[in-house]
Amino acid sequence: MAIGSHHSANAGKDEWLTPPGILQALGAFDLDPCSPVNRPWPTAREHYTILDNGLKKPWFGRVWCNPPYGSATGIWLGRLADHGNGIALIFARTETEMFFSQVWTRAQAVLFIQGRLYFHHVTGEQAAANSGAPSVLVAYGSANVETLERCRIPGKLVKL
Ligand SMILES: C[S@@+](CC[C@H](N)C(=O)[O-])C[C@H]1O[C@@H](n2cnc3c(N)ncnc32)[C@H](O)[C@@H]1O
Repeated sequence: MAIGSHHSANAGKDEWLTPPGILQALGAFDLDPCSPVNRPWPTAREHYTILDNGLKKPWFGRVWCNPPYGSATGIWLGRLADHGNGIALIFARTETEMFFSQVWTRAQAVLFIQGRLYFHHVTGEQAAANSGAPSVLVAYGSANVETLERCRIPGKLVKL
């Protein structure tokens, strides 16, 4: 999680996968509604891909959401806030309209991750460079707040 050379925080592709250690620290999820078509490892018990369009499908159980980047991020976060049970991983762009409308006003806790993450390619290989921006885990639902409290991912937890 060191800060060194980095890839652009929005380098024109969506296929930046969550570091497996983050998922392991957060426990089992029931659904990942935005998963690669060919994934190197499961991120939840069930996965939706762009071929299903995860925004058009029913969401259930405890949801993991590292959503597509750009203007779509707010739509995914809004869906997770409506669902009310899950954790999102997004860039900590705390000043944006999306962050105000879907995180500050609707989430129950945020864990600002210390340092910068190294995401993975769909091959499973870790990116050579870090993400170039800070990341934050966003909890919806009280059980997920407790998970962020207990998870031991280095960072600063803020309850909302
Ligand atoms: C930032 S990646 C995260 C992947 C995975 N959730 C993880 O945590 O490692 C976002 C994923 O969303 C997928 N995606 C984009 N649009 C989608 C859609 N409409 N429905 C489902 N998945 C979609 C992309 O193909 C990409 O794999």
